Amino acid sequence: MELVRATEAAAIRAWPFIGRGDKNAADGAAVDAMRKFLGTVDFDGVVVIGEGEKDHAPMLFNGERVGTGKGPACDIAVDPIDGTSLTAAGRQNALSVIAVSDRGSMLDASSVFYMDKIVAGPEGVGVLDLRKPIGENIRALAKAKHKEVGEITVAVLDRPRHAQLIDDIRAAGAGTRLMLDGDVAGGINAARYESRIDMCAGTGGSPEGITTACAIKALGGFMQARLAPRNDEERQRGADAGLDLDRVMDADDMVSGDNTFFVATGVTDGGLVEGVQRKGPIIRTESIILRSRSGTIRRVRAEHQISKWL
Ligand code: FBP
Repeated sequence: MELVRATEAAAIRAWPFIGRGDKNAADGAAVDAMRKFLGTVDFDGVVVIGEGEKDHAPMLFNGERVGTGKGPACDIAVDPIDGTSLTAAGRQNALSVIAVSDRGSMLDASSVFYMDKIVAGPEGVGVLDLRKPIGENIRALAKAKHKEVGEITVAVLDRPRHAQLIDDIRAAGAGTRLMLDGDVAGGINAARYESRIDMCAGTGGSPEGITTACAIKALGGFMQARLAPRNDEERQRGADAGLDLDRVMDADDMVSGDNTFFVATGVTDGGLVEGVQRKGPIIRTESIILRSRSGTIRRVRAEHQISKWL
C-alpha cells in the first residue's frame, strides 16, 4: 500500500507538464518524485527494470537501490510514466507504474529493448499461443469466451511495424483498438474481466512487458512474450546477458513466485483509472493496486492538499 504514494507522487509531479509538449520534463519530474517517495518505504529494493535507454530519458537506473533498506528484499520494476508522449501531448492513458516481487524473481530483460507480446484474460490460458497466426488465436479466444469473432477487439500499438498484424486481425474478422502508446494499460485492459478489450498483441517495450507480467499474475490472466532484438548487436547483448532469445515465456517465466504487487496511478484520464485532477485546493488521484497472492484488486482514490505540494 505504501508504494502507491510513490506512483501518486510521480503522477502529481507530472501533472503540470500534461499537454506542454516536453516529454523529458514530464518524465524527469515523475522520476524525481518516485525516487524520493520510494526512499521512504521500508523495503530493500533493487531496480531490475528501470526506464532503459530509450530517448536518453531521465532514469531510475537498473541496479539502483531504493527503499530504506529495512524490510523485505525485493526486485522492483518502475515506469514513472508509461506514456511520456501521451502526457506531453495531453492525450489519454498515461500511467505511473511500479511492480514489486521477491528478490531474484524478476527477469532482467533490459539488454533487449522490445518483446513480442500477447495478453488476454484467463480464458486465454491453454488456448492462445504466440507462435500461432493471430487469426487462429482470435478464433480460439472467441470460442473460449463464447463470443463471435466479430465481437473480439484486439489492442495494438499503432506503429508501422504492426501494419501486417493489424491487417491480419481485421482479415480474421476482429476489430482493433489502436493505441498511440502505453501497452501496459493495453495489457491490463485485455486481462480485466469487465473490459471491452479481449486481447493485446504486438511488439512493445521489454520493461513494460515485465511490469505487465506482474499485473497479469495478480489478475489471473494470460500472457506470453518473446524477446525481439532489433539487430545483431542487441541479439548478442541479450545472449551475453544469458537471455534465451527464442523462448516463448509466460508470466511466471518473467516474474517467478506468487508474491507480486502492481501499483498504477493515472497521469491522464484513461480506461483503467482517471488522471490527476485539480479541484480548488485539492489534487485528486486514482490508483489501482493488484496483489498476486490474494488476487485482490484495490482502487484507491486520494485527495491531496495542494498546499503540501507547492
Ligand atoms: P514511454 O512512455 O516510456 O516512452 O513508453 C511508451 C510505450 O508506448 C510503451 O507503453 C511501449 O511498450 C513502448 O513505448 C513501445 O515502444 P515504441 O514507442 O518504440 O514503439
